[in-house]
Amino acid sequence: MEPLKGLILSGGAGTRLRPITHTSAKQLVPVANKPVLFYGIEALVDAGIEEIGIIIAPETGDEIREAAGDGSDFGASITYIVQDEPAGLAHAVLTAEAFIAGSPFVMYLGDNLLADGLRGLVATFREDEPDALILLTPVDDPSSYGVAELDGEKVVRLIEKPKDPPTNLALVGVYLFAQPIFDAARSLEPSWRGELEITEAIDSLIDDGLKVQSEVVSGWWKDTGQLADMLEANRLVLEEIEPRLDGDTDDSRIEGRVIVEPGAKVIRSVVRGPAVIGAGAHIEDAYVGPYTSIGDSVRICRSEIEHSIVLAGSVVEDLGTRMEASLLGREVKLTRSDGMPKTLRMLVGDKSEIEII
Ligand code: G1P
Repeated sequence: MEPLKGLILSGGAGTRLRPITHTSAKQLVPVANKPVLFYGIEALVDAGIEEIGIIIAPETGDEIREAAGDGSDFGASITYIVQDEPAGLAHAVLTAEAFIAGSPFVMYLGDNLLADGLRGLVATFREDEPDALILLTPVDDPSSYGVAELDGEKVVRLIEKPKDPPTNLALVGVYLFAQPIFDAARSLEPSWRGELEITEAIDSLIDDGLKVQSEVVSGWWKDTGQLADMLEANRLVLEEIEPRLDGDTDDSRIEGRVIVEPGAKVIRSVVRGPAVIGAGAHIEDAYVGPYTSIGDSVRICRSEIEHSIVLAGSVVEDLGTRMEASLLGREVKLTRSDGMPKTLRMLVGDKSEIEII
């Protein structure tokens, strides 16, 4: 079989992560201080796939190009392919047809994270040579996903976001395809949400008697499209970090798996891992608890925070209560003022969510 190519889908509006995605692509939101998208690129390269196409949307494409570059930082060669409209995953595949140019390929949704990597899947695909290899995993809310109906090990039907799901086996956002997927995608009509659904394209391969194989993922999988999933992905990735203290932590207590990047200062504070403190961050008289990612140049002073993601350049000072399960965007300021009257004063962007006690 000729070498596989990689196709990462990184368009999509990210509506469920607003307001973060008003100013930044959802695939660039960091998990353990690394953009989600980079995990996908690295997984492809690790599986020996170095020719990678990234589908981008006109609105967020430049930011993604700038972040991932020509791929040389990853040992890959990246080609950017603009999808003019968010017309669905199968539409994205058709947009990439010239880039794929007859190769078998892995399609990877740019906001997905997979613990196990792709090596095993690529090996299975090469050995069995199916027309499509899909990944499944049990979920609590199957009607939010594409769902598979099985007969023993055989996939008999795939349905996108069914109201009445036949199983709890959701389609994970990683697919391996041979050429028949292109004709299948061409034969589709837009779904109820106005998209050409890859789930329906694969379902039509089954109807045509082509070989669609499935595997249930053994490790964890996260689609990071929503806050709770993003925090959960952050937790899972932080569980596996290698501790490393490159910043200044002299008079602080650092417990467990913690990375402190160069130029960061941790002063009279407690950092209880798993946690990562970005380059140039300033933590003073503070507590940073488990499952927290503090971005570059963030300031946390006289405050407590855990199970949260704070993006670069934000400031949290004198909070008075512990903050948790939160995602702060870039250059957010959360402070307390001593003056009267004792009121809340806010400048909050569209679609923000704030809970106060
Ligand atoms: C897409 C697919 C769905 C799949 C999911 C995985 O959903 O349409 O079949 O289960 O990705 O992340 P979407 O993110 O477009 O809602």
